[in-house]
Amino acid sequence: MTATAVEKQSAAEGQGYLMQAINATIQFGGLRAVDSVNMNIKAGSIVALIGPNGAGKTTFFNLLTGIYTPTEGEILFEGRSVSGRKTHIIADWGISRTFQNIRLFKEMTALENVMVGRHVRTKSGPFAATFRTASFKREEKQIQEDSERWLEFVGLLDHANDLASSLPYGAQRRLEIARALATDPKLICLDEPAAGMNESESAALDRLILRIRDELGITVFLIEHDMKVVMSLAEYIYVLDFGKLIAEGVAAEIQAHPAVIAAYLGEGGAEALIEKRRKKKAAQRGEIDASDAAAEEVVVEELVMDSDGLVMVAAEETLSEAADADEKTSENNEEKNDVA
Ligand SMILES: Nc1ncnc2c1ncn2[C@@H]1O[C@H](COP(=O)(O)OP(=O)(O)OP(=O)(O)O)[C@@H](O)[C@H]1O
Ligand SMILES: [Mg+2]
Repeated sequence: MTATAVEKQSAAEGQGYLMQAINATIQFGGLRAVDSVNMNIKAGSIVALIGPNGAGKTTFFNLLTGIYTPTEGEILFEGRSVSGRKTHIIADWGISRTFQNIRLFKEMTALENVMVGRHVRTKSGPFAATFRTASFKREEKQIQEDSERWLEFVGLLDHANDLASSLPYGAQRRLEIARALATDPKLICLDEPAAGMNESESAALDRLILRIRDELGITVFLIEHDMKVVMSLAEYIYVLDFGKLIAEGVAAEIQAHPAVIAAYLGEGGAEALIEKRRKKKAAQRGEIDASDAAAEEVVVEELVMDSDGLVMVAAEETLSEAADADEKTSENNEEKNDVA
């Protein structure tokens, strides 16, 4: 079938979907970073895209937002193909995004960063801007007021005049969201918004994402490694591994999905996690070399974090094991202290 035929057929089938990927593929040399992906996003939903590092999640966002063009297949937004469209056209259609590595104008204030986003929706051309016509000034004032409202929405109005670079990390992530919202999107794509956040920041982010959907009616498409965020927010979850979709479904289905557990934990899945945790504890007790333990610790903490929710049983078992071990250690210490 030709691309146009695919597009027509899918537009007909895809009514009711805000975004639809049909066999979306991009090949870099020998690597199919996104490989024959089919996906549907309903307007008004919160959908997550998860998967291990290098799975192709960000690349999928890059296809959706026009940074790359699919080498095969299509991505439709409201029935129109985004393939080959410039990023600003796609933004104009109503897709906005944040980036995995924060991309703010660091030497501009928080307010100015949001105003940049808002300018996507302005009418004044270069003539009006150069000669600062009355209509241009009116529009600038409107942009500033709108941008202040977006700062207020994400809880940063008090920081309007602070340099973006001076804001704490979690606040910079929220500022990026404000800038994305300022383009009046129908679909907002968030690439790991909770990355680097502590627990209370990420809980606040949860609430913010819900408000984006519930109060603003904007559809949310979320890439996230923090499984607590994913499992509590996403109504539907797609899982990528090596470019391919390996699972899709609601949270309960994804948590129990063997292919997902295997993708996150590798061969041996949950058992491997328990074994690693055991090793770490053994190292803490001095039964194995501590230099191995340092490396081991990183792996274990990563796995527990990635899989929190996904392998809840395994994690609980391991953590209670760890708690037992900790208890024994502290008992031993108390005994020692008593003796002393
Ligand atoms: N422009 C490019 N040229 C070549 N390879 C690329 C390009 N962009 C991405 N890739 C490769 O595509 C694969 C998927 O990368 P991508 O960044 O999409 O992964 P990801 O799922 O977002 O991972 P992470 O969770 O680490 O952010 C990786 O192997 C990456 O090296
Ligand atoms: Mg990524």
